[in-house]
Amino acid sequence: MLFNALTPELLVAFEAIVRPEHVLTPQATEAATYATYGRDHTEDLDFPPDVVLRPGSPEEVGEILHLCHAHRVPVTARGAGTGLSGGALPVHQGVVLSMERFNRILEIDERNLQATVEPGVVTEAFQNAVREKDLFYPPDPASKGSCFLGGNLSQSSGGPKAVKYGTTRDYVLNLQVVLPTGDIIWTGANTLKNATGYNLTQLLVGSEGTLGIITKAVFRLLPYPQQNILMLVPFRQVAQAAEAVSAVFRAGIIPSGMEFMEREAIAWSCDYLNIPLALPADVTAHLLIELDGQDLDQLYKEAEQVYAVLEGYDVGEILLADTAGQKDELWRIRRNIGNAVRYNSVYKEEDTVVPRAELATLLAGVKEIGGRYGFTSVCYGHAGDGNLHVNIIRGELSQEFWQGEQLRAAISEIFALCVRLGGTISGEHGIGLVQKGYMPIALSEVSLDLMRGIKQVFDPHGILNPGKIF
Ligand code: LAC
Ligand code: ZN
Repeated sequence: MLFNALTPELLVAFEAIVRPEHVLTPQATEAATYATYGRDHTEDLDFPPDVVLRPGSPEEVGEILHLCHAHRVPVTARGAGTGLSGGALPVHQGVVLSMERFNRILEIDERNLQATVEPGVVTEAFQNAVREKDLFYPPDPASKGSCFLGGNLSQSSGGPKAVKYGTTRDYVLNLQVVLPTGDIIWTGANTLKNATGYNLTQLLVGSEGTLGIITKAVFRLLPYPQQNILMLVPFRQVAQAAEAVSAVFRAGIIPSGMEFMEREAIAWSCDYLNIPLALPADVTAHLLIELDGQDLDQLYKEAEQVYAVLEGYDVGEILLADTAGQKDELWRIRRNIGNAVRYNSVYKEEDTVVPRAELATLLAGVKEIGGRYGFTSVCYGHAGDGNLHVNIIRGELSQEFWQGEQLRAAISEIFALCVRLGGTISGEHGIGLVQKGYMPIALSEVSLDLMRGIKQVFDPHGILNPGKIF
């Protein structure tokens, strides 16, 4: 794709659309503020845009896209910048379209258990707002306190609750989307069923800002599960922790959280958060298991079944969290593993996913590959989904190794293993910039060509988030 540079005339036109205070240029913006728009939470990457625009309405987005489409200027939409695959980085410069002003919850429809929101609403703020009406929006990425719903939509983000409740994709009924032509469409209907033609809604979810810009979303909601039980189970053998995961499901239990953390993951997070944790020397991994529902007696019965399953494994003393404070703390430790790893070292995040019962094989394979190529990894993740976050630690590794062919070959081996086991190369973080080179491991050339064709139909000049996915 050949793109054009920004011109002074375009800047004047942008100022007329969004007003000058919402046009941020590198010259007229405080350097630290401007720098944030060129970064996200992926490794240590940095791609400053030519200009940042902060539109306030779908119509303004339409006018901006129409201009950029006509002038072949790249546009990269940005939410809160918590992505882990470089999806929000403007790698071809041009415009960063910050959705931060789209921050309203427009309606919570209690009659239909639905809500209409703008994409710049923080996920947790939305969850709290619906909870006040005893309603539940389950998707809960680790960054829920700061990430935006729009970013969650663009990656189909998951989180611990996905194991019982599904990912962002499973809650979307309808989307308002602005196309590069400036046209504003709704992709579907506000119904639980819809058999009306191709499913444009689901095509847009997970499309990482490459097909259109989401300006409103209609989500379905659930009644809020009022009760839960949380237990932390220490294992002496990592493989057994992975194996116990599928055994729990086979016993007929669907937990609302089934998280795996190897020893370093939990230790680094406690260190990072300054939480004292006495880890017995022989503990190599933990499962954090949550059960939820409306009836506490029923949950205790399920917990007994889980205990019965765990008796078949070499586990240490199980911690049953008995206060809300203790539960919050355990979840805080789990959610901060990513932050703790980032605090310790530059790292590469591989979002591997396999069918649940193959988790032990994947984990053993990751460690074997690491040993052979000479890197360490901190592994944790949504074990109930077979979704293992493999954090490859830069530590003292040379720049040459970190950027080089050897490490790429190692990651390719990890992904090839995922595919051999029936899995794929991203469960919830998307492809973005950093995983796109590995796409041929997961998808045939025919499938990739179909995707490229879809991209061409939506965005013939390729201005939307260029350089991503393929
Ligand atoms: C987590 C993020 C990294 O599970 O997806 O902590
Ligand atoms: Zn995750």
